[in-house]
This record gives sequence, C-alpha cells and structure tokens, in this order.
Amino acid sequence: MQDQLQAILGKTEAALASIEGRPQLDQLKAAVVGGNGSLTAVMKGIGSLPKEDRPAFGQVVNKVKSQLEEMFKECGAKLDAREDAQALGSPVDVSLPPPGDYVGSLHPLTQVKRQIVSIFGRIGFTVAEASEVESEWYCFDALNTPEDHPARDEQDTLFFPADTRFGNIERREEEAYMLRTHTSSVQIRTMIGEKPPIRVIAPGRCFRRDTVDATHSANFHQTEGLYVDRKVTIKDLRAVLDHLLRELFGKEVKTRLRPSFFPFTEPSFEVDIFSSNLGRLSNKWIEIMGCGMVDPEVLSEVGIDPQEWTGYAFGLGIERVAMILHGIDDIRHFYQNDLRFLSQF
Ligand code: PHE
Repeated sequence: MQDQLQAILGKTEAALASIEGRPQLDQLKAAVVGGNGSLTAVMKGIGSLPKEDRPAFGQVVNKVKSQLEEMFKECGAKLDAREDAQALGSPVDVSLPPPGDYVGSLHPLTQVKRQIVSIFGRIGFTVAEASEVESEWYCFDALNTPEDHPARDEQDTLFFPADTRFGNIERREEEAYMLRTHTSSVQIRTMIGEKPPIRVIAPGRCFRRDTVDATHSANFHQTEGLYVDRKVTIKDLRAVLDHLLRELFGKEVKTRLRPSFFPFTEPSFEVDIFSSNLGRLSNKWIEIMGCGMVDPEVLSEVGIDPQEWTGYAFGLGIERVAMILHGIDDIRHFYQNDLRFLSQF
C-alpha cells in the first residue's frame, strides 16, 4: 500500500507539470481525490488491514493527502498568475524616465494664433468662433459674393454632395454645405447673433481646392477681425492694423494700404509691410493681408442699419505670418509633424 501511495504522488506530480488550465486541473483532482479517485480507492482499502496497523496507515494516507492538496493549490495559483499576466500585457515600469528628454512645445501656428489673439485681447477684442463646415449663404451670399464669382466655382471650393445634412449647422434655405474658404463667414454669424458695437477676432481653419506646393495648402488658417460701431473710419482700421503689425514684426515696420477688391468690403485694400529686419524678406514691400470697410450691403443683409453703423474687417493668414516671422520657405513644414522642424519653436 505504501508503494501505491508513492505511485499516486509521482503520477500526480508528473500530470501537474503539463496542466494548461482550470478544467484540466479539476479533472486531475477528481481522478485522485474524487469519489472514484485513486487515493480514495486506497483509503477504502484500510478496512482490510489488521486492526493494529490501521492508525499508522491512516497517518501516512493523511500526510499524502495533504501533500496532494498542497500541490493542487500551488498549480491553481500558478494558473491564476499566468492569466493575470496575460490580462495585464507586457510589463512596464512607469517610474522609468521617457526615452529622449523631450520637452513639448506649442505648434508654431498655435503660437502665432495666440499671439494675435493676445494683441487684440489687450485692445478690447473678444474671440468669435464658428464651424469649419459652412453653408453657401454664410460663406458667399451674405458676404455680397455673386453667384458667378470664381471663388464659388467647384474648382476652388470643396462642396458637400447635395443630399448632405448637418443638423447642427444652420442654413438659410436649402443651399449647399461646403468647407469654409475663409473666416469671413464668422463675420456674418457674429453680426446676426450680436448687436453693435461689435469687436471680434476670429481665428480658424479654412479650406480651398488648391494644389499643394510650397506656398499653397488645401487647408490653412486665417484670423478674421471685425469692428462695427458708430463713425468707424479707415483711419481706425489703419491705426489698429499698424498696431498689430508693429507688435508682430517690430516697431520699425512700415505699412501701406494698396487699393484692392473684396465683394464684402468697400473700399478694399491689401496691406503691405516693409522692414529691414525680416531676414531674406528685408527691405522690400511684402503683401501680408486683406482688409476694408464693411460693405453697407453686408450690414443690411444681417439687419444692421448702415446709416447708423459702419465698420471695418480684415483677414490675415496665420501660416503667412509664421513663415515671415521665422523665415520658413515651405508651408508644408507646418503639417508634416517632423520633430526636427517642430522642436525649433
Ligand atoms: N476673406 C479674405 C480672404 O480670404 C480676406 C479679407 C477679410 C478681406 C476681411 C477683407 C476683409 O482673402
């Protein structure tokens, strides 16, 4: 009988070594200590022993039994640990320092945008925002841009298919949705939502159907500015733009307004800057932005009386400012997420 017990121990130990999961372990347990198990069978044989041998045998059997239980328990714990490790994935030491000692920084476009917002914040402008998806009315019609204007061509503007619906973007009628081509649509949404005097700056992303090259990108950023009040004149426009451009490019910067045309301003201008301090762009006039006095047609369209109120508006490319400020010669650098570029700012 002693031999039988040793055999059971040996066999069980060997079987435990190749156990893969809980069901297999339960099966093995049943085959050893269950009702019809091999150990149970040996225990039942105790009755056939002479009376005086029974206590000693009983002790041995109990010892083997608790040895077996211990082995089962150990195997069960091993299976649990393996399952936990699998669920947790590969071990990570969260106290280790990160690879490379990078200190993050803001994207150059975000920095320029914040700088512009802060310059205007100090002279009383608040930030206005609207969605990047617009309807044709807000982006073109309300801005006095006629049906046959080239900007409205599908070659220049990204339109959504006619059956597209955006529940959260208000339209006038059933006009098409599109990706806004400029932030000037924010002028319209602001003037409809607020009463003058209005003083807002509206930075945001715009989209045009441009072929990408060093100076064009199908998505880019602008900052719109709008001021509507009583007796606003071109002198006010000029003063505020001079202030902006000196804050951005330095006190010695010279500015000039050149006559131009936009459907939503009258008169309209391009603004040029000249400075000896702009790297390769020094000492020549460079075009920087568009502006003008808000066209009375636009004011009437949004329910503001042009006899009582006048205003100015301007729009400037954030990429353009960043490129001039930092001497960047290719607009694509802004969108490629190359750390060698980004870590310079
Ligand atoms: N929206 C014009 C553009 O994208 C810029 C502009 C804004 C011009 C406001 C005048 C007034 O080119």
